[in-house]
Amino acid sequence: MERNDFIKSLGLGIALVCTGSCLSSCGSKGSDPQPDNPGGGGPSTGTTASINLNNQLLTVGASLTINGILFIRTATGNNATSFAATQAVCPHQGGALNWIQANNYIQCTLHASKYTPAGAILAQPNDGGTTSALKVYTPTVTGNTLSVTV
Ligand code: FES
Repeated sequence: MERNDFIKSLGLGIALVCTGSCLSSCGSKGSDPQPDNPGGGGPSTGTTASINLNNQLLTVGASLTINGILFIRTATGNNATSFAATQAVCPHQGGALNWIQANNYIQCTLHASKYTPAGAILAQPNDGGTTSALKVYTPTVTGNTLSVTV
């Protein structure tokens, strides 16, 4: 192979690697709302999400949404009981749910309904509507990996 041919093939390889990583990043739906599920039914059966506890959810009160699942660290230690996991989309009308550590509740960004980390309703939506309890999931810890399978 001539030097020029080698350099051209090297350039093409780098371009393919860059394109692939960009497309996989853009295609991630980890924190996307679920517009096709406006009723907020939660992720579909079989959905899985995993978190590397070496560098994520390190402190009590930290939260993270992956694949429609809201993870909250509720205690120290890397035990399953140190975490809560709920659906990340509101059952009322599909608003995104956020963990509000300062107030110790989950709150909807759309109509401000509030829930405990165990999924119980603390406040109904502020539009006069009615929500329902959140689906909660049982996390498992294997080594330093926190996982949920719906
Ligand atoms: S969508 Fe969450 S309270 Fe309405």
